[in-house]
Amino acid sequence: MSLPSDRPSTWFVTGTSRGLGLELVRQLLQRGDNVAATTRSTERLLSALGDGVDTSRLLPLAVDLRDDEAVQRAVRQTTERFGGLDVVVNNAGYGFLAAVEETSDREVRDMLDVQVAGVWNVLRATLPILREQKSGHIVNVSSILGLTAVPGWALYCAGKFALEGLSEALAAEVAGFGVKVTIVEPGYFRTDFLTRDSLALPADTTEHYPAIREMTANHLNLQGGQLGDPVKGAGAIIDQVVRGDGPLRLLLGSDAHSYATAKVDALRANVEAAAQTAGATDFPAA
Ligand SMILES: NC(=O)c1ccc[n+]([C@@H]2O[C@H](COP(=O)([O-])OP(=O)(O)OC[C@H]3O[C@@H](n4cnc5c(N)ncnc54)[C@H](OP(=O)(O)O)[C@@H]3O)[C@@H](O)[C@H]2O)c1
Repeated sequence: MSLPSDRPSTWFVTGTSRGLGLELVRQLLQRGDNVAATTRSTERLLSALGDGVDTSRLLPLAVDLRDDEAVQRAVRQTTERFGGLDVVVNNAGYGFLAAVEETSDREVRDMLDVQVAGVWNVLRATLPILREQKSGHIVNVSSILGLTAVPGWALYCAGKFALEGLSEALAAEVAGFGVKVTIVEPGYFRTDFLTRDSLALPADTTEHYPAIREMTANHLNLQGGQLGDPVKGAGAIIDQVVRGDGPLRLLLGSDAHSYATAKVDALRANVEAAAQTAGATDFPAA
């Protein structure tokens, strides 16, 4: 279902003071849409938007996405202010670079709290509204690392793979209610993602993973040189939602497309190799 063209649409976007989220807010306000923008710092959001942006249709919301009550309150404020809700964008997220055995219990829980439980909080608060009105669009910003995994990114991949599983199931669950789901899979984008403000590193490292230390240094050096343009990325997300068509997964970036192709090829080879053996564990036909 495409968005109504006779009135502004209302969007609820998480993680908006930087990067893709900030760019989404900027472009949505330019379109004349209503935007409820969650952030950990409304001050940072407003100063990043600057004076040149008309913020009359912006509802900045300071929300800890891990707090179910706070998320419910933010969604209530959104519908009270704008009279409804059309699109939800779960965008907030951060990277973490470490070997699996270097990653602490706290670091695992923090990541999954934001990237899985936080998204679930937003979904529980918003789905009843979309389901009742029989229309709406959920956009879950994953990563190409939600489809394929590489050394050093295990925790981030664990969060994004979980997000993809939840999103695939959700898409099938809510299609009958007229609610569409899109999983966004960006490659490297030139946002703040690879700065030390966003990229988390482990509290403790060991000497056994020099390749991961080298990769961490390379990633920090990559900042500013990533292939993906966040202005175009945000534009592509908005276009897909406005048109209401497109496949479940929106790959962004030629790097993402190459990684996805390699993953699909490897998976197909794996599945074909199992064609003769997978049935060996079945009970015999009665
Ligand atoms: N840039 C890339 O290369 C890339 C590639 C693949 C996927 N992605 C995904 O794209 C999304 C946007 O990232 P970005 O590239 O725009 O990065 P960014 O510039 O670092 O922005 C990330 C946003 O996520 C929010 N965020 C970060 N850590 C958070 C935490 N612990 N709790 C709650 N919110 C948090 C921040 O919101 P506030 O500070 O406003 O609260 C921030 O606005 C993320 O989900 C990321 O995983 C990015």
